[in-house]
Amino acid sequence: MSIKIMGTGSALPVRTVTNDEIAGMVDTSDQWVRERTGIGSRHVSTGETAASLAAQACSLALKDAGRTAQEVELILAATCTPEDVVPCTACQIQDRIGAENAVAFDLNAACAGFLFALHTAWAYVEAGIAANALVTGSEILSKIVDWEDRGTCVLFGDGAGAVYVEKCGEGGILGFVQHSDGSRGSVLSCVSRPTETPFFRGQESGRYLKMDGREIFSFAVRQIPLTIGEALDKGGLSVQDVDLFILHQANRRIIEGIAKRLSVDISRFPMNLDRVGNTSSASIPLLLDELNREGRLKKGMRLVLSGFGGGLTCGACVLEW
Ligand code: UT7
Repeated sequence: MSIKIMGTGSALPVRTVTNDEIAGMVDTSDQWVRERTGIGSRHVSTGETAASLAAQACSLALKDAGRTAQEVELILAATCTPEDVVPCTACQIQDRIGAENAVAFDLNAACAGFLFALHTAWAYVEAGIAANALVTGSEILSKIVDWEDRGTCVLFGDGAGAVYVEKCGEGGILGFVQHSDGSRGSVLSCVSRPTETPFFRGQESGRYLKMDGREIFSFAVRQIPLTIGEALDKGGLSVQDVDLFILHQANRRIIEGIAKRLSVDISRFPMNLDRVGNTSSASIPLLLDELNREGRLKKGMRLVLSGFGGGLTCGACVLEW
């Protein structure tokens, strides 16, 4: 038994911010950002939250699948930027869309979060706990980015993507791989809550995202081709069998590096990071929804989804559309 993606949806904040606008805030330029990352602009929240965007994306995914909110049994929300600690984003989504029969909870695996949530949905279905799920990745990274740090503020964007999945007898997800390496957590971190209590004197640890960009870059280019290879082995396929590689949209040069290592033409790696930047856990379902709505995903196509990020975490999934 497996799960099949029956519908997709996405949502972006209304406000867009160009590289030129950021160049008015920190010492950078449109040319530098485009050449080093491929990013031209991104959407930034002026009030939208991880839950409000995810709820829109989930409603669209249900509509695309022809299903109602009452039919949903599980809601998994991947996010590292929830608006509130409690209630979790997934419960807020449940309330907003009226999915009163669902079990809802969050999962944080940074930029690999959507894939980890999708794998969890698969496990729930395999175990017979649920027959369907809404899986979403949603982020408001603009609230944890240091807007005075040119090394990070040019990279990230806000947004949400979602898929509705159902159990299926054949096709659907064919293979899955997940990896975590907690020993390298300091490469990408954000310790944002106060740690002082009447009983414990915490250390000031910085409120914004900190990143060693070069470390993440080389981790992704080395590790992702191996992870994709493992997932393909599990699905009994090779890179030649894959129609499209839908990768976490962190940096155009990372995606080009991965394509080169896999010896696959870059045309099979669709990208939207020029318009949305790096939206962390939202990036894969956002791109998937764009491709779906453009009619570029045909029945029977083989897709690889793969992501990487803080933790460190990474994963890959092979599926038949
Ligand atoms: O989703 C996972 C999260 N993170 C990532 O995926 C990030 C992965 N890493 C990257 O995308 C790239 O490493 C960056 C885009 C972050 C940086 O690109 P790079 O080619 O690795 O640049 P660099 O860090 O080696 O910096 C080169 C130069 C430095 O100046 P010096 O020391 O050579 O004088 C930086 O200070 O570029 C400078 N620089 C900038 N200049 C203009 C760094 N950021 C900027 C900027 N504008 N925004």
